[in-house]
Amino acid sequence: MLRLAVLISSRGSNMQALIEYTLQADVPAEIIGVIADNPAKGLSHAAAAGIHTLAINKSEYENRAAFEDVLAQHIDQLDVDIICLAGFMSVLSGDFCQRYYGKIINIHPSLLPAYKGLDTHQRAISDEAKWHGCSVHIVTPKIDDGPLLAQKAVAVDANDTATTLAAKVLSEEHIIYPMIIGALATGLLRFDLSGAQITPINISGVLPGVINGDDQMRWPIADITSES
Ligand code: GRF
Repeated sequence: MLRLAVLISSRGSNMQALIEYTLQADVPAEIIGVIADNPAKGLSHAAAAGIHTLAINKSEYENRAAFEDVLAQHIDQLDVDIICLAGFMSVLSGDFCQRYYGKIINIHPSLLPAYKGLDTHQRAISDEAKWHGCSVHIVTPKIDDGPLLAQKAVAVDANDTATTLAAKVLSEEHIIYPMIIGALATGLLRFDLSGAQITPINISGVLPGVINGDDQMRWPIADITSES
């Protein structure tokens, strides 16, 4: 059973997609705890699903190191294999990323390496980008920079606003994040940590369970970012 911690900062819709996915009987992954860096709205959804929750209010700590000490203590208590950042807005220090090397993954609302950082949807629209989307990647000390695990592109329509584009991207986020968890849980995806960089290794295969919005349940997912 793949043991997961999920870190959130707000509504936690990606967290909810992960909860729905991992609660299925045939999915060998379990969310052991959800931790927020503030009293986030999403915590109540996790608690309602019977998952251990905790708010570590970052604003009450003197500095990032003090906050991360407490965060690490709690993560260690949960004894997890993977830490999923799901709309977690605190930037983690290099030390923290190193401590959990190869164990932290993140979902980012852009086709990385395009649009690292914030306001990704508006930036794509302002640039008149044809394609936008989302990426799941391994977290390394450089922000939004670690090895990519999956991406899903959406076409940017002429009448899209940042809000409509965000909604389209978010529904793809809710598909690819559970897929990565399914692939990790079944061993179809693993990380080789032996080199200077983390190397993801993908094996094709059928994923367990049902992922909302996807009818094929195969891994790896098609990457359509190169279509024009
Ligand atoms: C998502 O677009 C996520 O990729 C980004 O922030 C948003 C949070 O969504 N980092 P939610 O909290 O999972 O609903």
